[in-house]
Amino acid sequence: MSKPKVLQIGPLSERFNRELAEEYEVSALWQQAEPLAFLREQGEQFIYMVSSARFGCTADQLALLPNLRAICSFGVGYDPYPLELLRDRGIALSTTPDVLNDCVADLAMGLMIDSARRLSEADRFVRGGAWNSTTGFPLARRVSGKRLGIVGLGRIGEAMALRASGFTMPVRYHNRRAVEGSPYQHEPDLLALARWADFLVLTCPGGKATHHLINAEVLDALGPDGFLINVARGSVVDEAALIAALEQKVIGGAGLDVFEREPQVPAALRELDNVVLLPHVGSASVETRQQMAELVLDNLRAFIATGKLLTPL
Ligand code: 8YV
Repeated sequence: MSKPKVLQIGPLSERFNRELAEEYEVSALWQQAEPLAFLREQGEQFIYMVSSARFGCTADQLALLPNLRAICSFGVGYDPYPLELLRDRGIALSTTPDVLNDCVADLAMGLMIDSARRLSEADRFVRGGAWNSTTGFPLARRVSGKRLGIVGLGRIGEAMALRASGFTMPVRYHNRRAVEGSPYQHEPDLLALARWADFLVLTCPGGKATHHLINAEVLDALGPDGFLINVARGSVVDEAALIAALEQKVIGGAGLDVFEREPQVPAALRELDNVVLLPHVGSASVETRQQMAELVLDNLRAFIATGKLLTPL
């Protein structure tokens, strides 16, 4: 029996690419000299697509895939997909929820501790040979017991709140609607949350609804002793406003795993000492990435066998 055909939009890990190719006849779109010309010629044959929260897919690509029925995406984010179009065409989309909650929340805790206690900066201090008998490292800020404001109390936000309880941090959150049954206090006004919080952690989805939610006004409300932690999407923060706030010490500091135009990180951010910069590694542990890969493959198998995805959006 011939293998089912799968269109893969962008590369994933070597192991994933290999496992996918064992079960399916894979067409790697990113390896085509002219991707749209390839789809114009061959697009009709694809019913299944594999992509990721990084690559997504475009309306132009979908227009050349008239028989597409399912997209299995690696990652929990869905911002690079034209959702309305998928809905209109009845194309199912799966993501990889839950398996990455712990790693992303761990990383957010790490960024919180790093930015407040100035770990990366202290590491640079030691490596640079600045530590001597007369020069010690300047004092940092405490984390334990401080107020944690979560923007987007979903699965990852919940995992973050759980960790914060071990640091005896009071937690409040901002969502458009209160989460039913949540033990944490809902704050409908984002500015009020920023004023209250010592740490404002972003764990909300990206996309139009949250675009530049964190602007100069919110940063002003967070204040000179406050820290912004972003493990969500770069688009949630007005990056120019954040750079200005960090330069002028309007906020105490920031820890960022995501940026507006990845992999570009503005030089102005790289020059600042009061910000910790990571290359979008929230879910990037061997264990979690393997679980995400398995969930993509399980979704694809389930859809082919039953017409239903295991973790549809
Ligand atoms: C990954 C992510 O970096 O899950 C997401 O939405 O942003 C990350 O886990 C991404 O999916 C890698 O392709």
